Amino acid sequence: MQRTRVKDIFDRETAGGEVLVQGWVKTRRSSGAVSFIQISDGSTLKDLQIVVEQSSPDYPLVETLNTGCSVCATGELVESEGRNQKYEVKASKLEVLGQADPEEYPLQKKRHTLEFLREIAHLRPRTNTFGAMARVRNTMAYAIHSFYQERGFQYIQTPMITASDAEGAGSMFRVTTLDLQDPPRQNGLVDSTEDFFGQPTYLTVSGQLEAEIFALALSDVYTFGPTFRAENSNTSRHLAEFWMVEPEVAFCDLDGLAELAEDFLKFVFSQALDKCPEDMAFFNQWYDNTAISTLEGIINSSFERLTYTEAVKLLESSGESFEFPVSWGLDLQSEHERYITEKRVGKPVVVTDYPKDIKAFYMRMNDDGETVRAMDVLVPRIGEIIGGSQREERQDVLLDRMKQAGLDAETYWWYLDLRRYGTVPHAGFGLGFERTVQFATGMQNIRDVIPFPRTPNNVEF
Ligand code: 4AD
Ligand code: MG
Repeated sequence: MQRTRVKDIFDRETAGGEVLVQGWVKTRRSSGAVSFIQISDGSTLKDLQIVVEQSSPDYPLVETLNTGCSVCATGELVESEGRNQKYEVKASKLEVLGQADPEEYPLQKKRHTLEFLREIAHLRPRTNTFGAMARVRNTMAYAIHSFYQERGFQYIQTPMITASDAEGAGSMFRVTTLDLQDPPRQNGLVDSTEDFFGQPTYLTVSGQLEAEIFALALSDVYTFGPTFRAENSNTSRHLAEFWMVEPEVAFCDLDGLAELAEDFLKFVFSQALDKCPEDMAFFNQWYDNTAISTLEGIINSSFERLTYTEAVKLLESSGESFEFPVSWGLDLQSEHERYITEKRVGKPVVVTDYPKDIKAFYMRMNDDGETVRAMDVLVPRIGEIIGGSQREERQDVLLDRMKQAGLDAETYWWYLDLRRYGTVPHAGFGLGFERTVQFATGMQNIRDVIPFPRTPNNVEF
């Protein structure tokens, strides 16, 4: 007999018929001559109740079941008298697949702290919180592909090992090779990458520059993959390894890009609400009781636009005492971003035209010679969720900017070639996927919205 998923059971119109279900025991209790076992298989937030009667030959097995055991049950699907469930399985056969010693199994029926769960990242997917997180994350990842695919964008896979620092920032992970055939040397660690590639290489911070290559051939492209930053920031919004979505569009300016970003965010959030109603309701109930209404508000209104200069004026005249200084020319800190979105605007804000000196070399210079066509999308609670720009398509201006940034034009010869041969206006942005999931679910810490977070001093799993 084939296994039926718990989700598919609850999606059925009517009870009746034999089913075979498998999963992990959440709880078990006995009442009179029957035992009730709640199992989960992760396909839905809902547990399925298995009822075993004392007269069943498998009843003695039930007594051995604890939280965390894995079981297989066969029986009739009947309507349940229980308050919270539509159906239950009247087991005619029960098999234990794997035991879990109750003295040692770390997950118990009580509510564990998120900090504790991070230490057992191999078991936390079995909790309601991380099951819900994994399903919402999956739905949002799928929504990202749907959004671009339906608009005719091509999905481009950009390399993870690179020789260039796309952001001109310089906080990258170096790639080295390990000679496993020759372990005695330095515990097997041999820094021979330069032998391998002929030059030093790093883990990519962004697929943008490679995406630009494809945009200047296929017009509308996007990437979606892991990116790496060695910044030592121990905050609730930074990871050393995170996933980024980077659309890059030829024949597009900053206004077109801001529209794309707005449509994109609205689509991804509405998919989370439509496709994961129970999981989103769970986050709303246990983690942030404004999570759903915030998303609905975003979907049903338009984003605010501010220039950087306007944002600075607004902050300067706010009368707030910020930890970091505010003044034209300094970058906005997350406290400033949050003040603008939460206290002043109350919805997402697109901030444009930042000073050239605090932004990357590839952003298009404005006529004022001081600001560039940059765009950050800020949201309440998180701050920056998207960073992007119209790109500098003029070869001479780009060369100037690279010189000012101290970059070696020879290293970027291919990037300059794109401006030499058939250059066109183009624009693109990067959306931090974990910040987006964090925002949608209302989770406080970015470490709790990625299966295996990589942060300073944390790479256990
Ligand atoms: O603003 P960033 O650095 O932009 C770029 O990398 C551009 N090359 C993107 C482009 O134009 N194609 O990063 C983009 C987004 C940020 O807005 C933020 O959401 C996320 O990536 N991000 C991080 N998320 C988690 N942990 C970190 N350390 C992050 N750094 C950036
Ligand atoms: Mg940024």
